[in-house]
Amino acid sequence: MQFEGKENERRATGVVQQASCSLDHAPPHPVYPGVEYIPVTMIREDLNNLPNYSLPPPFSMRDFTPGDEDVWAAIEFAATEFKSMEKAREHFDLEFGDYQDELCNRCRFLVAGNGRAIGTATAWRNPSYRGNLYGRLHWVAIHPDFQGRGLSKPLVGAAMQRLREFHNRAYLTSQTTSWKAIKVYLDFGFSPVVEADRHRRAWELLWQKLRHPGLSSFASEESWKN
Ligand SMILES: CC(C)(COP(=O)(O)OP(=O)(O)OC[C@H]1O[C@@H](n2cnc3c(N)ncnc32)[C@H](O)[C@@H]1OP(=O)(O)O)[C@@H](O)C(=O)NCCC(=O)NCCS
Repeated sequence: MQFEGKENERRATGVVQQASCSLDHAPPHPVYPGVEYIPVTMIREDLNNLPNYSLPPPFSMRDFTPGDEDVWAAIEFAATEFKSMEKAREHFDLEFGDYQDELCNRCRFLVAGNGRAIGTATAWRNPSYRGNLYGRLHWVAIHPDFQGRGLSKPLVGAAMQRLREFHNRAYLTSQTTSWKAIKVYLDFGFSPVVEADRHRRAWELLWQKLRHPGLSSFASEESWKN
């Protein structure tokens, strides 16, 4: 199934549901007051020429080590990806519990000057996306106390570099409400996937929000008139 990823995980594990809500908590769009939650997929058919964003001091990156399960869960919960710390941990155990060795090479943490992990991104994999092995940029999150400081691109860059070590192409799943992350993914060369009318609508809404050149082919006026 196309959206076997985060959307199903949300359903399965009680990840925060955001049906039909405005884009983030941004001020209402001047034309439409909100936009529905629509899952989206993005793809990068090669991992060449990745952009490089350096991490400002005192931040650094480190790899996952066994015992970091609650560190991961705390960041994902704080970033509102789960309704509770317990749900986040439950999800971790479900998705990654059997693969902790692999996570040591694939899950990265963004670390503040005091040594506290405050962000995470995983260079995961899917052996059967579109019937083929793809790398998967997965579970990107920064603790709210550290959001808005331009740290997401170095974090995503660190995961992308790791993806390139294992794969030659990658995809990700996200949703319209994560428009800030979508902007970052577009800047990393991921392209929108359109396999149904709702995807086109999602990208049209995101074009309206972001005006990103990577979405210019979705510059239709129709989606927000409905
Ligand atoms: C997504 C997330 C990791 C981004 O991290 P962040 O610290 O908030 O974002 P940054 O400060 O790094 O900014 C990222 C980009 O968004 C842009 N941005 C921020 N606010 C914006 C706004 N109101 N309108 C348009 N762009 C905006 C920034 O300008 C930046 O792009 P730039 O580097 O080209 O200038 C973080 O918000 C988060 O953890 N969100 C919750 C979890 C989530 O949604 N994860 C992704 C799921 S797929």
